Amino acid sequence: MSAVLWTVETMAKVMNGRLVGNHRAGVSGLSIDTRSLIEGEAYFAIKGDIHDGHKFVANAHSAGAALSVVSEDWLNRLDGETGPLLIVDDVLEALVRLAVASRARSKARIVAITGSVGKTTTKEALRTALAACGKVHAAVASFNNHWGVPLTLARMPEGTDFGVIEIGMNHPDEITPLVKMARPHVAVINNVAAVHLGAFKDVDAIAHAKAEIFDGLEPNGTAVLNADDERLPLLTELARQKGIKNIVRFGESAEAEARIENLVMHGSCSCLTAKILGDDMVVKVGAPGRHIVQNVVAVLACCKLVGADLARAALALADMKPVKGRGQRHKIRVGSASITLIDESYNANPTSVRAALALLAASVPKTRGRHVAVLGDMLELGPTSSQLHLGLADAIVENNIERIFLVGPEMKALESALSGKAEVTHVSSVDDLIPLVKADLRDGDILMAKASLGMRFALLIDDLLNTGSAES
Ligand SMILES: Nc1ncnc2c1ncn2[C@@H]1O[C@H](COP(=O)(O)OP(=O)(O)O)[C@@H](O)[C@H]1O
Ligand SMILES: [Mg+2]
Repeated sequence: MSAVLWTVETMAKVMNGRLVGNHRAGVSGLSIDTRSLIEGEAYFAIKGDIHDGHKFVANAHSAGAALSVVSEDWLNRLDGETGPLLIVDDVLEALVRLAVASRARSKARIVAITGSVGKTTTKEALRTALAACGKVHAAVASFNNHWGVPLTLARMPEGTDFGVIEIGMNHPDEITPLVKMARPHVAVINNVAAVHLGAFKDVDAIAHAKAEIFDGLEPNGTAVLNADDERLPLLTELARQKGIKNIVRFGESAEAEARIENLVMHGSCSCLTAKILGDDMVVKVGAPGRHIVQNVVAVLACCKLVGADLARAALALADMKPVKGRGQRHKIRVGSASITLIDESYNANPTSVRAALALLAASVPKTRGRHVAVLGDMLELGPTSSQLHLGLADAIVENNIERIFLVGPEMKALESALSGKAEVTHVSSVDDLIPLVKADLRDGDILMAKASLGMRFALLIDDLLNTGSAES
């Protein structure tokens, strides 16, 4: 039996719930999805965008749930037996209460991370670094919204030394309640860029929304800001207005307190000297790319601020690996071609596509191999979407990408912009793309694929990984 995360008695008390049926003394974890539920966990019947979790309570119990947290409303409509229940007014609200109780019982130092790009990558790097120094708790995936943040907090074991919480947003006033649950000692804003511009007037408006992360900072907490970001002055001003006294800046700029000094980028890693809040260090970063190094100096600043051993944290980063869909590399054989696949299929916006093109350019193909970029539409960019897509032309040319595949209506404009500068093919969907790419690949090629999640590039990646035999 795994360790008890919460006693059922405590859950009922903090969630203001009523117990029905025979239940165990404690639960080993919390689940909101019966397909991944592990025996002994409590199931929370949350209402999602598509399904109401109450539909799956019976599945939860057949999967071995210790109990299900359900709403009074649903119970009234129920006929028949379903197993042990904890009945509350509103399931999400109950999860939030448990999250608040979890934070209150914890002695962990908490870091909250927001920003336009790289939150999950930074969260994973921070997890790797802090794991060398104590017990770390962070979400298994990008759980950064109105249910992800409370779920992550409520799942934090009592003996945690360091908690890492990713906080995302699509519109104003989304971060404030989430950060007030997390009450971080350190709050990071990775960067501010044109992402989800749909809900915002301009990028400054995004900066204002990101600055909501200061609303929940613990007294005497520290804001960690990107020294190289155009909106550093605005964020600094907003932090000051919200009464934040401690600001640490990270990046390449000379004024950064967590500073990249000398940087050498290799195909599969980066090496740098850095000064982190007064400490000189040599750091090897196990995943390539300048953008990863940016995240890493923020991570090292956080480690120092939460009292972790900086040397241990830095050593651990040598073994960090790119996160799935965010730069993961595979050596595969497609037909007679032996190629390297860089899987950036998780998401795309102008900032991360530029970073990925630079990453591709920094990788050196074997003789006769080419740099191949497969770029799909960047979604949710609002009225300036066409300009933002066209704006990628310079980055493609600067990085000397020899072969380009463009996918989707928004990418169409780039085709003519690049004509004569690279070999370009445009198609309308990933289904049309797959056979063309496979037929085009040559031995030694490095292929980087990037698009918004809705462009379904995972199909391309899966197809290449399944048909291409893996090579070591
Ligand atoms: N600092 C950064 N600047 C630009 N791109 C980045 C940065 N960090 C990560 N990326 C890239 O951005 C994409 C999204 O990364 P992810 O960590 O999932 O971000 P988020 O959690 O903010 O959505 C990935 O392709 C990743 O490699
Ligand atoms: Mg994320």
